Amino acid sequence: ASLVALSQAMPKTELHLHIEGTFEPEQMFAIAQRNQVALKYDTVDALKDAYQFTNLQDFLDLYYQGMSVLLHEADFYDLTMAYLNKVHSENVVHVEIFFDPQGHTERGIPFDVQIKGIRRALEDAKKQWGMTYQLIMSFLRHLSEDSAFQTLKEATPFLDWIDGVGLDSSEVGHPPEKFANVFKACRDLGLKVTAHAGEEGPPDYVWQALDLIHVDRIDHGNRALEDEKLIAEIKHRELTLTVCPLSNLKLCVVDDMNDHPIRKMLALGLMATVNSDDPAYFGGYMNDNYQALIEQSKINRNELYQLAKNGITGSWMDEATKRIHL
Ligand code: HPA
Ligand code: ZN
Repeated sequence: ASLVALSQAMPKTELHLHIEGTFEPEQMFAIAQRNQVALKYDTVDALKDAYQFTNLQDFLDLYYQGMSVLLHEADFYDLTMAYLNKVHSENVVHVEIFFDPQGHTERGIPFDVQIKGIRRALEDAKKQWGMTYQLIMSFLRHLSEDSAFQTLKEATPFLDWIDGVGLDSSEVGHPPEKFANVFKACRDLGLKVTAHAGEEGPPDYVWQALDLIHVDRIDHGNRALEDEKLIAEIKHRELTLTVCPLSNLKLCVVDDMNDHPIRKMLALGLMATVNSDDPAYFGGYMNDNYQALIEQSKINRNELYQLAKNGITGSWMDEATKRIHL
């Protein structure tokens, strides 16, 4: 079989996925209409035409606009279920999903409304297909650490439903050190910890994610490749990198898919994985990301196998479930 066919058929995990980034324009318009809220764009095509980004912030501006039509528990359920249906059809067997509570509480949507809808869809997918999951609450780094603490407080009744915490949104100017205290509180609660680092931010931000946030994983991590000592430290700590090829291309983190750094990461012995980040905005789900790496970055069979395996070993599923998949 061709490598592309193999990549489609193989069981996959997704470790870097923002549920609000799976909001397809068609569904966005349907939910906007149902909720009687206006979108800034008149048609699905006009909205899609706006998906041309030169950097992370360009994307984030549209991402926050898009999620603003989510009002009710059913909206969060429908959004999550649509994503899970899609990746189930792509042989994804385990997902670790971020949600951005502050993107919703800031506009008056209570924390419980969000998490109840998302969780119910995840549970339904587990019952229907045996798909396993972890749920990761992500703090918005352009907001204050106080706001992150407030979010953690609102999450307290639901801590049994939350496996880990992350850090996302505008990276440059908002280094991990800004959130050292709240991540310490999260670790003390037994939550796993990850952070977006080195997507646009410098290697120093990745160092901060390691030494001040004590991450269990790194989201993106591309710019870690600029610092040899940092590469060695990431290897020493056996930290997984959740790499997002199509995201990197759309946000101009890489210039050309023909030389995406994921091959270099593997060659260096880094635990890189393949993920879709915000598939509705970046032009592809899991299989599209693998296909781009195969056809354009020219990854070979060994590399494909290693990436899939890293997706299992680097996940936060329990060790018994990992052994089933390995
Ligand atoms: N980077 C930072 N923040 C985000 C992203 C991302 O790729 N996707 C959604 N929020
Ligand atoms: Zn991301």
